[in-house]
Amino acid sequence: MQNKFPAFITIIGFFILLAIACKHTPEEIAKPIVPIDTTTVCDSVHVTFNGTVNPILQAKCVICHNSTTTGGNIDFTKYADIARIAENGHLMGAIEHISGYSAMPKNGNKLSVCDIAQFRKWIADTTFTIPSGGIPCNPDTVYFNMDLLPILISSCAKSTCHDVVTHKEGIILTDYNHVMQTGGVNPFNPGGSKLYQIITNNSGENFMPPPPDAPLTTNQIQMVYKWIVQGAKNLHCDNMPCDTVTITYTATIWPIIQDNCKGCHTGTLAGGGIQLTDYATISAAAGPTGRLYGAITHASGFSPMPQNGALLPDCYITQIRKWITAGRPSK
Ligand code: HEC
Ligand code: HEC
Repeated sequence: MQNKFPAFITIIGFFILLAIACKHTPEEIAKPIVPIDTTTVCDSVHVTFNGTVNPILQAKCVICHNSTTTGGNIDFTKYADIARIAENGHLMGAIEHISGYSAMPKNGNKLSVCDIAQFRKWIADTTFTIPSGGIPCNPDTVYFNMDLLPILISSCAKSTCHDVVTHKEGIILTDYNHVMQTGGVNPFNPGGSKLYQIITNNSGENFMPPPPDAPLTTNQIQMVYKWIVQGAKNLHCDNMPCDTVTITYTATIWPIIQDNCKGCHTGTLAGGGIQLTDYATISAAAGPTGRLYGAITHASGFSPMPQNGALLPDCYITQIRKWITAGRPSK
Protein backbone atom coordinates (compact mmCIF):
# COMPACT_ATOMS: atom_id res chain seq x y z
CA MET A 1 0.00 0.00 0.00
CA GLN A 2 2.75 2.39 1.03
CA ASN A 3 4.58 2.09 -2.31
CA LYS A 4 1.63 2.71 -4.59
CA PHE A 5 1.73 6.51 -4.49
CA PRO A 6 5.41 6.96 -5.56
CA ALA A 7 4.93 4.40 -8.34
CA PHE A 8 1.95 6.37 -9.60
CA ILE A 9 4.03 9.61 -9.66
CA THR A 10 6.81 7.84 -11.53
CA ILE A 11 4.45 6.61 -14.22
CA ILE A 12 2.93 10.07 -14.71
CA GLY A 13 6.45 11.55 -14.88
CA PHE A 14 7.42 9.03 -17.49
CA PHE A 15 4.54 10.01 -19.75
CA ILE A 16 5.33 13.71 -19.39
CA LEU A 17 8.94 13.07 -20.40
CA LEU A 18 7.79 10.94 -23.32
CA ALA A 19 5.50 13.75 -24.53
CA ILE A 20 8.37 16.30 -24.36
CA ALA A 21 10.78 13.96 -26.07
CA CYS A 22 8.38 13.34 -28.93
CA LYS A 23 7.89 17.02 -29.71
CA HIS A 24 10.50 17.29 -32.43
CA THR A 25 10.39 19.82 -35.20
CA PRO A 26 10.70 18.31 -38.71
CA GLU A 27 14.24 19.75 -39.06
CA GLU A 28 15.42 18.01 -35.91
CA ILE A 29 14.10 14.68 -37.09
CA ALA A 30 15.87 14.98 -40.42
CA LYS A 31 19.30 15.29 -38.76
CA PRO A 32 21.29 12.07 -38.77
CA ILE A 33 21.41 10.88 -35.21
CA VAL A 34 24.56 8.72 -35.45
CA PRO A 35 27.33 9.87 -37.77
CA ILE A 36 28.26 7.15 -40.24
CA ASP A 37 31.70 5.76 -39.45
CA THR A 38 33.04 4.57 -42.78
CA THR A 39 35.76 2.47 -41.13
CA THR A 40 33.25 0.11 -39.57
CA VAL A 41 30.86 -0.22 -42.48
CA CYS A 42 30.36 -3.89 -43.12
CA ASP A 43 30.68 -5.13 -46.66
CA SER A 44 28.63 -8.28 -46.66
CA VAL A 45 28.00 -8.09 -50.40
CA HIS A 46 31.41 -8.44 -52.00
CA VAL A 47 32.45 -11.54 -50.16
CA THR A 48 35.05 -14.00 -51.40
CA PHE A 49 36.73 -17.01 -49.85
CA ASN A 50 40.30 -15.74 -50.23
CA GLY A 51 39.59 -12.08 -49.50
CA THR A 52 37.02 -12.32 -46.73
CA VAL A 53 36.26 -15.70 -45.22
CA ASN A 54 39.65 -17.37 -45.13
CA PRO A 55 41.41 -14.44 -43.41
CA ILE A 56 38.84 -14.62 -40.58
CA LEU A 57 39.32 -18.37 -40.23
CA GLN A 58 43.11 -18.00 -40.25
CA ALA A 59 43.05 -15.18 -37.68
CA LYS A 60 40.46 -16.52 -35.26
CA CYS A 61 40.06 -20.24 -35.71
CA VAL A 62 43.10 -21.97 -37.19
CA ILE A 63 44.94 -21.91 -33.86
CA CYS A 64 42.71 -24.82 -32.72
CA HIS A 65 41.85 -26.19 -36.15
CA ASN A 66 45.05 -27.14 -37.97
CA SER A 67 46.92 -30.27 -38.98
CA THR A 68 48.28 -30.90 -35.46
CA THR A 69 45.42 -29.55 -33.33
CA THR A 70 42.28 -30.58 -35.13
CA GLY A 71 39.41 -29.44 -32.90
CA GLY A 72 36.34 -31.50 -33.81
CA ASN A 73 38.44 -33.17 -36.53
CA ILE A 74 38.32 -29.98 -38.58
CA ASP A 75 41.48 -28.57 -40.16
CA PHE A 76 41.05 -25.02 -41.46
CA THR A 77 44.23 -25.24 -43.51
CA LYS A 78 42.30 -27.66 -45.76
CA TYR A 79 39.69 -26.21 -48.05
CA ALA A 80 37.94 -29.58 -48.17
CA ASP A 81 37.31 -29.44 -44.40
CA ILE A 82 36.00 -25.88 -44.58
CA ALA A 83 33.72 -26.76 -47.49
CA ARG A 84 32.37 -29.81 -45.66
CA ILE A 85 31.26 -27.93 -42.54
CA ALA A 86 30.06 -24.93 -44.54
CA GLU A 87 27.85 -27.21 -46.59
CA ASN A 88 26.48 -29.35 -43.75
CA GLY A 89 25.49 -26.32 -41.63
CA HIS A 90 27.91 -26.88 -38.76
CA LEU A 91 29.93 -23.76 -39.54
CA MET A 92 26.95 -21.38 -39.23
CA GLY A 93 25.56 -23.37 -36.31
CA ALA A 94 28.84 -23.03 -34.42
CA ILE A 95 29.49 -19.32 -35.08
CA GLU A 96 25.87 -18.29 -34.50
CA HIS A 97 25.83 -20.26 -31.24
CA ILE A 98 22.78 -22.23 -32.29
CA SER A 99 21.79 -24.85 -29.77
CA GLY A 100 22.94 -28.34 -30.71
CA TYR A 101 26.29 -27.06 -32.02
CA SER A 102 29.48 -26.30 -30.08
CA ALA A 103 29.72 -22.50 -29.79
CA MET A 104 32.79 -21.12 -31.64
CA PRO A 105 35.37 -19.66 -31.25
CA LYS A 106 35.54 -22.02 -28.29
CA ASN A 107 35.86 -20.10 -25.00
CA GLY A 108 36.20 -16.85 -26.96
CA ASN A 109 34.01 -13.92 -27.92
CA LYS A 110 31.34 -14.50 -30.52
CA LEU A 111 32.34 -13.26 -33.98
CA SER A 112 31.06 -9.79 -34.90
CA VAL A 113 27.68 -9.38 -36.59
CA CYS A 114 29.62 -8.35 -39.70
CA ASP A 115 31.83 -11.48 -39.73
CA ILE A 116 28.77 -13.67 -39.34
CA ALA A 117 26.93 -11.87 -42.14
CA GLN A 118 29.94 -12.37 -44.41
CA PHE A 119 30.07 -16.11 -43.69
CA ARG A 120 26.36 -16.38 -44.41
CA LYS A 121 26.72 -14.55 -47.72
CA TRP A 122 29.69 -16.68 -48.80
CA ILE A 123 27.85 -19.91 -48.03
CA ALA A 124 24.74 -18.73 -49.86
CA ASP A 125 26.82 -17.88 -52.94
CA THR A 126 28.99 -20.99 -53.12
CA THR A 127 28.54 -24.47 -54.54
CA PHE A 128 30.75 -26.69 -52.51
CA THR A 129 31.71 -29.31 -55.02
CA ILE A 130 35.28 -30.33 -54.51
CA PRO A 131 36.82 -31.71 -57.68
CA SER A 132 37.49 -35.44 -57.48
CA GLY A 133 41.11 -35.85 -56.58
CA GLY A 134 40.95 -32.76 -54.37
CA ILE A 135 41.96 -29.16 -54.93
CA PRO A 136 44.29 -28.84 -57.90
CA CYS A 137 47.70 -27.31 -57.15
CA ASN A 138 48.54 -24.16 -59.04
CA PRO A 139 52.19 -24.31 -60.15
CA ASP A 140 52.61 -20.56 -59.51
CA THR A 141 51.39 -20.71 -55.93
CA VAL A 142 53.61 -21.47 -52.95
CA TYR A 143 51.93 -23.98 -50.64
CA PHE A 144 53.44 -23.50 -47.22
CA ASN A 145 53.38 -27.07 -45.89
CA MET A 146 54.33 -28.72 -49.14
CA ASP A 147 56.80 -26.26 -50.65
CA LEU A 148 58.33 -24.17 -47.89
CA LEU A 149 58.12 -25.98 -44.57
CA PRO A 150 60.40 -28.87 -45.64
CA ILE A 151 63.15 -26.35 -46.44
CA LEU A 152 62.71 -24.65 -43.07
CA ILE A 153 62.66 -27.97 -41.20
CA SER A 154 65.80 -29.34 -42.82
CA SER A 155 67.78 -26.10 -42.86
CA CYS A 156 66.55 -24.04 -39.90
CA ALA A 157 64.40 -25.97 -37.43
CA LYS A 158 67.14 -28.46 -36.62
CA SER A 159 67.61 -29.62 -33.05
CA THR A 160 70.37 -27.12 -32.27
CA CYS A 161 68.72 -24.10 -33.87
CA HIS A 162 65.10 -23.10 -34.38
CA ASP A 163 63.11 -26.05 -33.10
CA VAL A 164 60.70 -25.62 -30.18
CA VAL A 165 63.26 -26.72 -27.58
CA THR A 166 66.28 -24.66 -28.66
CA HIS A 167 64.39 -21.68 -30.19
CA LYS A 168 67.49 -19.55 -30.68
CA GLU A 169 66.62 -15.83 -30.31
CA GLY A 170 63.01 -16.87 -29.72
CA ILE A 171 62.62 -17.98 -33.31
CA ILE A 172 60.77 -21.25 -33.96
CA LEU A 173 60.37 -22.45 -37.54
CA THR A 174 58.70 -25.82 -37.12
CA ASP A 175 55.20 -25.04 -38.38
CA TYR A 176 53.07 -22.25 -39.86
CA ASN A 177 51.83 -20.72 -36.61
CA HIS A 178 55.31 -20.52 -35.10
CA VAL A 179 56.80 -19.11 -38.29
CA MET A 180 54.17 -16.36 -38.34
CA GLN A 181 54.51 -15.62 -34.62
CA THR A 182 58.30 -15.63 -34.35
CA GLY A 183 59.82 -15.34 -37.84
CA GLY A 184 59.31 -11.60 -38.33
CA VAL A 185 57.27 -12.22 -41.48
CA ASN A 186 55.62 -9.16 -42.99
CA PRO A 187 53.08 -10.50 -45.52
CA PHE A 188 53.47 -9.08 -49.07
CA ASN A 189 56.78 -7.42 -48.07
CA PRO A 190 59.85 -9.68 -48.28
CA GLY A 191 62.29 -6.77 -47.84
CA GLY A 192 60.56 -5.93 -44.56
CA SER A 193 60.58 -9.54 -43.34
CA LYS A 194 63.33 -10.74 -41.01
CA LEU A 195 62.99 -14.28 -42.33
CA TYR A 196 63.90 -13.08 -45.82
CA GLN A 197 66.58 -10.60 -44.74
CA ILE A 198 68.68 -13.12 -42.84
CA ILE A 199 68.81 -15.65 -45.67
CA THR A 200 69.81 -13.04 -48.27
CA ASN A 201 72.10 -10.58 -46.48
CA ASN A 202 75.29 -12.63 -46.76
CA SER A 203 77.45 -9.78 -45.48
CA GLY A 204 75.45 -9.43 -42.25
CA GLU A 205 76.62 -11.16 -39.09
CA ASN A 206 73.26 -12.90 -38.65
CA PHE A 207 73.37 -14.56 -42.05
CA MET A 208 71.44 -17.85 -42.01
CA PRO A 209 72.01 -20.74 -42.05
CA PRO A 210 75.35 -20.01 -40.36
CA PRO A 211 78.54 -21.69 -41.63
CA PRO A 212 79.57 -24.48 -41.91
CA ASP A 213 76.02 -25.04 -43.23
CA ALA A 214 75.61 -24.05 -46.87
CA PRO A 215 73.47 -21.01 -47.67
CA LEU A 216 70.03 -21.72 -49.09
CA THR A 217 70.03 -22.21 -52.84
CA THR A 218 68.74 -19.52 -55.17
CA ASN A 219 65.58 -21.53 -55.78
CA GLN A 220 64.96 -21.94 -52.05
CA ILE A 221 65.43 -18.23 -51.44
CA GLN A 222 63.05 -17.51 -54.34
CA MET A 223 60.49 -19.79 -52.70
CA VAL A 224 60.61 -17.76 -49.47
CA TYR A 225 60.36 -14.53 -51.48
CA LYS A 226 57.39 -15.72 -53.53
CA TRP A 227 55.59 -17.04 -50.47
CA ILE A 228 55.84 -13.67 -48.69
CA VAL A 229 54.88 -11.71 -51.83
CA GLN A 230 51.80 -13.93 -52.14
CA GLY A 231 50.75 -12.89 -48.64
CA ALA A 232 52.55 -15.51 -46.51
CA LYS A 233 49.43 -17.66 -46.47
CA ASN A 234 48.94 -21.21 -45.35
CA LEU A 235 47.42 -22.57 -48.55
CA HIS A 236 46.71 -26.20 -49.24
CA CYS A 237 46.20 -28.23 -52.40
CA ASP A 238 45.80 -31.95 -53.01
CA ASN A 239 46.49 -32.62 -56.59
CA MET A 240 49.95 -31.73 -57.86
CA PRO A 241 50.92 -32.46 -61.43
CA CYS A 242 53.10 -35.54 -61.12
CA ASP A 243 55.38 -36.86 -63.82
CA THR A 244 56.01 -40.51 -63.01
CA VAL A 245 57.32 -41.35 -66.47
CA THR A 246 60.31 -39.13 -67.15
CA ILE A 247 62.32 -39.47 -63.97
CA THR A 248 65.93 -38.36 -63.85
CA TYR A 249 68.37 -37.98 -61.00
CA THR A 250 69.16 -34.37 -61.85
CA ALA A 251 65.69 -32.99 -62.54
CA THR A 252 63.58 -35.18 -60.25
CA ILE A 253 65.43 -36.86 -57.38
CA TRP A 254 68.07 -34.27 -56.50
CA PRO A 255 65.57 -31.37 -56.06
CA ILE A 256 63.46 -33.52 -53.71
CA ILE A 257 66.46 -34.47 -51.56
CA GLN A 258 67.86 -30.95 -51.65
CA ASP A 259 64.68 -29.34 -50.31
CA ASN A 260 63.55 -32.06 -47.91
CA CYS A 261 66.62 -33.88 -46.62
CA LYS A 262 70.02 -32.42 -47.39
CA GLY A 263 70.01 -29.75 -44.65
CA CYS A 264 70.06 -32.50 -41.99
CA HIS A 265 72.17 -34.98 -43.93
CA THR A 266 75.36 -33.04 -44.54
CA GLY A 267 78.54 -32.27 -42.63
CA THR A 268 79.83 -33.86 -39.45
CA LEU A 269 76.43 -33.81 -37.72
CA ALA A 270 74.62 -35.58 -40.58
CA GLY A 271 71.55 -37.44 -39.23
CA GLY A 272 72.37 -41.07 -38.51
CA GLY A 273 75.79 -40.48 -40.09
CA ILE A 274 74.08 -40.60 -43.48
CA GLN A 275 75.19 -38.05 -46.06
CA LEU A 276 72.69 -37.07 -48.76
CA THR A 277 74.70 -34.45 -50.59
CA ASP A 278 75.39 -35.81 -54.08
CA TYR A 279 74.66 -38.67 -56.44
CA ALA A 280 77.10 -41.11 -54.82
CA THR A 281 75.82 -40.66 -51.27
CA ILE A 282 72.12 -40.61 -52.22
CA SER A 283 72.52 -43.68 -54.40
CA ALA A 284 74.32 -45.50 -51.59
CA ALA A 285 71.54 -44.69 -49.07
CA ALA A 286 68.92 -45.79 -51.58
CA GLY A 287 70.80 -48.98 -52.37
CA PRO A 288 70.24 -52.58 -51.33
CA THR A 289 69.76 -51.84 -47.61
CA GLY A 290 66.44 -50.19 -48.52
CA ARG A 291 67.07 -47.64 -45.79
CA LEU A 292 66.13 -44.55 -47.76
CA TYR A 293 62.88 -45.99 -49.10
CA GLY A 294 62.03 -47.56 -45.74
CA ALA A 295 62.57 -44.21 -44.02
CA ILE A 296 60.46 -42.10 -46.42
CA THR A 297 57.58 -44.59 -46.45
CA HIS A 298 57.68 -44.79 -42.63
CA ALA A 299 58.10 -48.57 -42.87
CA SER A 300 58.52 -50.32 -39.54
CA GLY A 301 62.12 -50.84 -38.50
CA PHE A 302 63.24 -47.52 -40.02
CA SER A 303 63.34 -44.03 -38.57
CA PRO A 304 60.53 -42.07 -40.24
CA MET A 305 61.85 -39.32 -42.53
CA PRO A 306 61.87 -36.37 -43.00
CA GLN A 307 62.44 -36.23 -39.25
CA ASN A 308 59.90 -33.89 -37.57
CA GLY A 309 58.16 -33.40 -40.92
CA ALA A 310 55.14 -34.78 -42.71
CA LEU A 311 55.35 -37.74 -45.10
CA LEU A 312 56.60 -36.63 -48.50
CA PRO A 313 53.79 -36.12 -51.04
CA ASP A 314 52.75 -39.36 -52.79
CA CYS A 315 54.17 -38.01 -56.01
CA TYR A 316 57.73 -37.77 -54.63
CA ILE A 317 57.54 -41.22 -53.04
CA THR A 318 56.41 -42.72 -56.34
CA GLN A 319 59.17 -40.94 -58.23
CA ILE A 320 61.84 -42.14 -55.78
CA ARG A 321 60.50 -45.72 -55.93
CA LYS A 322 60.59 -45.71 -59.74
CA TRP A 323 64.11 -44.29 -59.75
CA ILE A 324 65.28 -47.04 -57.37
CA THR A 325 63.53 -49.76 -59.39
CA ALA A 326 65.15 -48.43 -62.56
CA GLY A 327 68.57 -49.05 -60.99
CA ARG A 328 69.21 -45.53 -59.64
CA PRO A 329 70.44 -43.96 -62.88
CA SER A 330 72.87 -41.10 -62.34
CA LYS A 331 71.42 -38.87 -65.06
C1 HEC B 1 40.30 -22.49 -28.46
C2 HEC B 1 40.18 -23.45 -29.52
C3 HEC B 1 39.17 -23.21 -30.62
C4 HEC B 1 38.97 -22.06 -31.37
C5 HEC B 1 39.68 -20.73 -31.25
C6 HEC B 1 37.98 -22.41 -32.36
N1 HEC B 1 37.58 -23.71 -32.21
FE1 HEC B 1 36.14 -24.65 -33.29
N2 HEC B 1 36.34 -26.32 -32.14
C7 HEC B 1 37.27 -26.49 -31.14
C8 HEC B 1 37.10 -27.80 -30.53
C9 HEC B 1 37.96 -28.40 -29.43
C10 HEC B 1 36.01 -28.41 -31.21
C11 HEC B 1 35.42 -29.81 -30.95
C12 HEC B 1 34.07 -29.69 -30.28
C13 HEC B 1 34.19 -29.12 -28.90
O1 HEC B 1 35.12 -29.49 -28.14
O2 HEC B 1 33.39 -28.24 -28.56
C14 HEC B 1 35.57 -27.46 -32.22
C15 HEC B 1 34.51 -27.69 -33.08
C16 HEC B 1 34.13 -26.83 -34.09
C17 HEC B 1 33.06 -27.07 -35.02
C18 HEC B 1 32.13 -28.25 -35.01
C19 HEC B 1 30.98 -27.82 -34.14
C20 HEC B 1 29.83 -28.76 -34.16
O3 HEC B 1 29.00 -28.67 -33.22
O4 HEC B 1 29.72 -29.57 -35.07
C21 HEC B 1 33.03 -26.02 -35.89
C22 HEC B 1 32.10 -25.84 -37.08
C23 HEC B 1 34.06 -25.10 -35.48
N3 HEC B 1 34.72 -25.62 -34.39
C24 HEC B 1 34.31 -23.90 -36.10
C25 HEC B 1 35.16 -22.93 -35.57
C26 HEC B 1 35.29 -21.60 -36.13
C27 HEC B 1 34.57 -21.12 -37.39
C28 HEC B 1 36.17 -20.94 -35.35
C29 HEC B 1 36.64 -19.51 -35.50
C30 HEC B 1 35.62 -18.50 -35.62
C31 HEC B 1 36.60 -21.84 -34.31
N4 HEC B 1 35.97 -23.04 -34.48
C32 HEC B 1 37.51 -21.51 -33.31
C33 HEC B 1 38.20 -25.57 -30.72
C34 HEC B 1 38.28 -24.24 -31.17
C1 HEC C 1 65.32 -32.39 -39.34
C2 HEC C 1 66.41 -33.20 -39.76
C3 HEC C 1 66.20 -34.32 -40.75
C4 HEC C 1 65.55 -34.26 -41.95
C5 HEC C 1 64.78 -33.10 -42.56
C6 HEC C 1 65.73 -35.55 -42.58
N1 HEC C 1 66.45 -36.37 -41.76
FE1 HEC C 1 66.96 -38.29 -42.12
N2 HEC C 1 67.75 -38.47 -40.26
C7 HEC C 1 67.88 -37.45 -39.36
C8 HEC C 1 68.47 -37.95 -38.14
C9 HEC C 1 68.79 -37.12 -36.89
C10 HEC C 1 68.68 -39.34 -38.35
C11 HEC C 1 69.30 -40.32 -37.37
C12 HEC C 1 68.41 -40.57 -36.20
C13 HEC C 1 67.36 -41.52 -36.52
O1 HEC C 1 67.60 -42.53 -37.15
O2 HEC C 1 66.22 -41.24 -36.08
C14 HEC C 1 68.22 -39.62 -39.70
C15 HEC C 1 68.24 -40.90 -40.26
C16 HEC C 1 67.95 -41.13 -41.60
C17 HEC C 1 68.08 -42.42 -42.25
C18 HEC C 1 68.45 -43.71 -41.59
C19 HEC C 1 67.16 -44.36 -41.15
C20 HEC C 1 67.32 -45.74 -40.59
O3 HEC C 1 66.35 -46.17 -39.94
O4 HEC C 1 68.35 -46.33 -40.82
C21 HEC C 1 67.75 -42.24 -43.57
C22 HEC C 1 67.76 -43.30 -44.66
C23 HEC C 1 67.37 -40.86 -43.73
N3 HEC C 1 67.49 -40.21 -42.51
C24 HEC C 1 66.94 -40.32 -44.91
C25 HEC C 1 66.32 -39.07 -44.99
C26 HEC C 1 65.64 -38.60 -46.18
C27 HEC C 1 65.53 -39.35 -47.49
C28 HEC C 1 65.15 -37.38 -45.87
C29 HEC C 1 64.31 -36.47 -46.75
C30 HEC C 1 63.14 -37.03 -47.35
C31 HEC C 1 65.53 -37.07 -44.50
N4 HEC C 1 66.23 -38.14 -44.01
C32 HEC C 1 65.23 -35.89 -43.84
C33 HEC C 1 67.51 -36.12 -39.56
C34 HEC C 1 66.76 -35.66 -40.63
